[in-house]
Amino acid sequence: MKLLVTGGAGFIGSNFVRYMVNKYPDYNIVNLDLLTYAGNLENLKDIENKPNYKFVRGDIADRDFVQGLFQEEKFDFVINFAAESHVDRSITDPGIFVQTNIQGTLALLDAAKSFDVKKYLQVSTDEVYGTLGETGYFTEETPLAANSPYSASKAGADLLVRAYHETFGLPVNITRCSNNYGPYHFPEKLIPLMIINALNDKELPVYGDGLNIRDWLYVEDHCQAIDLVLHKGRDGEVYNVGGNNERTNIDIVKTILKQLGKPESLIKYVKDRPGHDRRYAIDATKLRTELGWQPKHNFDTGIKETIDWYLNNREWWENIISGEYQEYFKSQYGDRLGVE
Ligand code: NAD
Ligand code: DAU
Repeated sequence: MKLLVTGGAGFIGSNFVRYMVNKYPDYNIVNLDLLTYAGNLENLKDIENKPNYKFVRGDIADRDFVQGLFQEEKFDFVINFAAESHVDRSITDPGIFVQTNIQGTLALLDAAKSFDVKKYLQVSTDEVYGTLGETGYFTEETPLAANSPYSASKAGADLLVRAYHETFGLPVNITRCSNNYGPYHFPEKLIPLMIINALNDKELPVYGDGLNIRDWLYVEDHCQAIDLVLHKGRDGEVYNVGGNNERTNIDIVKTILKQLGKPESLIKYVKDRPGHDRRYAIDATKLRTELGWQPKHNFDTGIKETIDWYLNNREWWENIISGEYQEYFKSQYGDRLGVE
């Protein structure tokens, strides 16, 4: 069995590649990644020499390159993680989100169709459903109502995937997961940003009133869900993934400070994200009942393990934040935190 995993050098992709390389020694796994700012081969150091693993650098939106790779490798399965993934960046520069998330998905779908792959799995997000009020959950039937350029590009990609199933009979699945956390999470996102700022005694920028809610899932539980859908998902179906773990942002930030023994005076409420979705909450009944998925990690132990991982892997994140990340931080937070 030959698998193409795109975006396998990013946060979730690298956790998934490790999970699959170790679980299926007789599968051949090809990781295609452009190595943008978010891609990092350090994430895969421990498995890079495994005989069932190969890395290829390239752009999923480069149609000729993608067709050539499919012709050469004859993939059975394609799992598309590759994306521009950060909402705040999509607000300042939407174009690259359309390019990678929509054009890239289209190029992969065309190649999957030309070379008869057995399954194309699109890794999507709960953000395509928009926002919830104080009650209710996203189900697979919730209409798409994306609110950010990021989620709009992911919703556009989801509709293309659906269309390739309906129109051309391509065997596809779409997974829509809630917020992930765990090792190798890039420090532009809430949890790693707050851990690292706290460790460096820097202010923790909380958007708006801090009461927006996200539904957090440990990354390995997401990987396990994708493995199940890949092997057992019914063609053409969407599966929501989420662990019923809703938390306000301020609760997350205070939990991190408490574990690190840092003062709450580091918290700074800053200007809100434009179009900030208030609440996400996933109903994963379909995945649980149809495919028997059960998350293994609870949040209290998962967040502790995650914080410990950042404490024990300083070199990994110090390398990241010493580079172009400095410019990014200044452009996103300079005004909000009043720092040069
Ligand atoms: P990430 O930003 O950490 O990683 C994205 C990876 O894609 C990087 O390695 C990057 O180099 C690669 N990439 C970007 N553009 C590329 C291109 N044109 N060609 C090839 N590779 C390219 O993202 P993540 O948080 O790991 O998210 C992975 C996927 O999961 C995304 O599709 C995202 O929408 C989805 N998702 C993420 C979350 C979450 O909480 N992080 C939740 C649900 C769904
Ligand atoms: O729900 C799944 C989505 O989760 C994925 O599709 C996205 O790829 C992923 O980035 C994530 O999106 P969010 O916007 O929810 O994640 P982020 O970590 O950027 O923000 C989480 C919450 O924390 C959100 O309400 C905004 C808030 N926040 C974020 C940052 C970076 C802050 O208050 N301060 C910050 O500095």
